[in-house]
Amino acid sequence: MKIILLFLILLINQSICMNEIVVDETVNFRIQWEIENNDSILFILSANIKTWLGIGWSNSNGMNDADYIIGAFNNDGSLNITDRVLPDGAKYQSPFIDSKVGGSNDILTSYGYQTPNYTYVKFTRKLVTDDIIGDRDLTINNPTYLIWARGVPVQSNLRYHHENRGELTLTLGKVNGGTIGTSKKDYISWHIGLMLAAFLVLMPFGILVARYFKQYHYWFPIHYILLGTAFCFVAVGFVIAFMMSQRKFSKGVLHAWFGLFTVIFMVFSVTLGIVSHYMWDETRKKVPIFPDIVHHWISRLTFLLGLVSIWTGFHTYGASKVYSIILGFVVTLFVSLVVFLEIYKKKYPKESLLGNNKFKLKNVINEGIETEGANN
Ligand SMILES: *[C@@H]1O[C@H](CO)[C@@H](O)[C@H](O)[C@H]1NC(C)=O
Ligand SMILES: *[C@@H]1O[C@H](CO)[C@@H](O)[C@H](O)[C@H]1NC(C)=O
Ligand SMILES: *[C@@H]1O[C@H](CO)[C@@H](O)[C@H](O)[C@H]1NC(C)=O
Repeated sequence: MKIILLFLILLINQSICMNEIVVDETVNFRIQWEIENNDSILFILSANIKTWLGIGWSNSNGMNDADYIIGAFNNDGSLNITDRVLPDGAKYQSPFIDSKVGGSNDILTSYGYQTPNYTYVKFTRKLVTDDIIGDRDLTINNPTYLIWARGVPVQSNLRYHHENRGELTLTLGKVNGGTIGTSKKDYISWHIGLMLAAFLVLMPFGILVARYFKQYHYWFPIHYILLGTAFCFVAVGFVIAFMMSQRKFSKGVLHAWFGLFTVIFMVFSVTLGIVSHYMWDETRKKVPIFPDIVHHWISRLTFLLGLVSIWTGFHTYGASKVYSIILGFVVTLFVSLVVFLEIYKKKYPKESLLGNNKFKLKNVINEGIETEGANN
């Protein structure tokens, strides 16, 4: 009996002495660790959620070129813990299992279990392994760049988890406790928010105003305020994305390419818009191909590219299908609106709300002459 008590006290003591950090308060995702024999480390990952839990570290910064250990669970409830690596330049993928890319499994011991609302994963490994391909060294006294990630309930596959991940720098031999929030989370939501506002609100209305409300004087200020704001949003969103990917362009990611082309087209579109404005001549009989019509079509193309970029973004980062469905719904709504307005315009070309270009121009000129005449 005494021995058991002693053992319990020892056990409790041990758990009290462990270094511990809460990285995700929403599910109380806790990382605990302890250096053993000066050459190994024991990690315990736990969270109030039934899903996979992962931890990683790198000598540089970011998910790239980092060592990972991920505790997932098989359908029968057994732990399937894997030693993984994400080599330099392989961003935004599930880390590869070491043994599949020429490395070795260096997890010495492991244990884990799940309940409907809790996951517990424990493992040990050497601080310095011999696996140059698959592992990155852990050090006690130097800062370690730690990465954590988790899945969502009932998720066994390692889909990308832009929300449920984070990074922090700490010294394994020094820290004893604390809570770290997620910093990346805010940036990604800013990126998403700015892009959605630009492409689902500002840009479509800016374009609609230019196409269907030209006979009203206020179309132009509305047009340039909406699109100027959209342009700023996209530029800031793009810079945020760039910063988030360690100030490197993610060549391997389709979303990055679509984003880049969207931004380039948007620059053209805005430039052509400014040129159109300064080249506008009220005596002209026809809308010139350059710059006006080119401006119209480049802008429409930019808008489409923007939508495709958003969709590739959802796809690449494993957003829930619901978002794609909402996107599809909004796009369908816009397309229907445009089709409706186009038909309306064809049918009632003389209606003041939707006159065609020539009609409007004439109208504006006539109005101008009339008011001038009246003033005289
Ligand atoms: C642990 O390792 C450090 C550096 O590797 C060394 O300075 C220290 O003496 C070691 N301590 C023990 C108890 O082995
Ligand atoms: C563990 O998971 C990996 C990757 O999903 C898989 O390749 C492997 O077969 C699994 N091992 C077991 C024992 O289920
Ligand atoms: C987990 O679920 C059980 C029953 O389903 C409940 O009694 C327990 O309080 C829950 N624990 C937490 C941490 O939510």
